[in-house]
Amino acid sequence: MKIAVITGASSGLGSEFLKQLADDASIEEFWVIARRKEMLEALQQFTVKKVRPVCLDLTLKESIIYLQDLLKQENPIVSVLVCAAGLGKVGATEEISMEDNDRMIDLNCRVAVDVTTACFPYLRRNSRIIEISSASAFSPMPGINVYAASKAFLQSYTKTLHHEMLPKGIHVTCVCPYWIKDTEFIKAATKASRKYYRHFPLASVSQSVVRMSLQASKLNLWVCTPGIVCTADRFFAKFIPHFVYVPLMDLISRI
Ligand SMILES: NC(=O)c1ccc[n+]([C@@H]2O[C@H](COP(=O)([O-])OP(=O)(O)OC[C@H]3O[C@@H](n4cnc5c(N)ncnc54)[C@H](OP(=O)(O)O)[C@@H]3O)[C@@H](O)[C@H]2O)c1
Repeated sequence: MKIAVITGASSGLGSEFLKQLADDASIEEFWVIARRKEMLEALQQFTVKKVRPVCLDLTLKESIIYLQDLLKQENPIVSVLVCAAGLGKVGATEEISMEDNDRMIDLNCRVAVDVTTACFPYLRRNSRIIEISSASAFSPMPGINVYAASKAFLQSYTKTLHHEMLPKGIHVTCVCPYWIKDTEFIKAATKASRKYYRHFPLASVSQSVVRMSLQASKLNLWVCTPGIVCTADRFFAKFIPHFVYVPLMDLISRI
C-alpha cells in the first residue's frame, strides 16, 4: 500500500496538501495527523481514496511511538511525507511564556524530526519529503524570535537530509513561505501581540503555496520560496549582514 502521511492536516497548508494530492497516482491512501478528529474525518470529501484520520497530539512522545507502531503493523510505502504541523507565537521575547516556547520548539523541531525518522524505513526511490519551515528561517527575526530560530533548525536539518537522500532518489524539500493569510496560523500567532505584525501586506494564500511546494518537490529543489516576498527575503538575508538586517526587520515588523 502506498500512502501519504500529512501532519497538521486538520487545517491550513496540511489540508490543502491533501486536496492537491488527491489525484496523485503514487498515493493509494492518506494518513492525516492532527489533534482535531472531526476535521481530519471531514477530509474524506476531497478524495475518493481512503483517508485515515490519525488523531494525535504529536508533542507527546507516546504519539510518535504510536505512529511508529502503526507503520510497523501496516508496513506501507510512504510515497509522500508532508510535515506541516507547526505553531508560532508573536511578541517580544520576554512576553512569550516558557510553555509556549517549549511547545514551539517541540512541535516545529523535534516532532518534524521524529515523524520523518519514523517514516525513514518506509521511503522508497521517488518518495517525497516536504518539511514546512518559514521565510523567518533565513535570518533572526524580532517579534518571532523563538519561532524563527525553530524554523532555522528545520531548514538546516532538511538541507542536509536533501543531500543525504539524493543517492537514494528520495526528494526532500524545505518550504519557506512568507505569511499566509487564509490559515489559522496568523490568528493564533498574533493573539497576544499588539506591537508586532499587525498587518500582513502581500501575504500569500495556501493554494498557491502548496501548488509551488509540490512543483518544487517534483523538481527536487532543496528549498522552495513560494512567493515574491519570501524569495526576496532569502536573497537579502544572504547578502545583507544580519547586524543590519535584524534592525531593519524589527522596523518592518512594527508597521
Ligand atoms: N500561516 C503562515 O503565515 C505561515 C507562514 C510560514 C510558515 N508557516 C508554517 O506552515 C505550517 C502550517 O501552518 P498553517 O499556516 O497551515 O497553520 P494552521 O492552520 O494553524 O495549521 C497548523 C496545523 O498543525 C496542527 N497541530 C498544531 N499543534 C499540534 C499538535 N500538538 N499535534 C498535532 N498537530 C498539531 C494543527 O491541528 P490541530 O490543532 O487539529 O492539532 C493544524 O492542523 C506550520 O509549520 C507553520 O509554521 C505558516
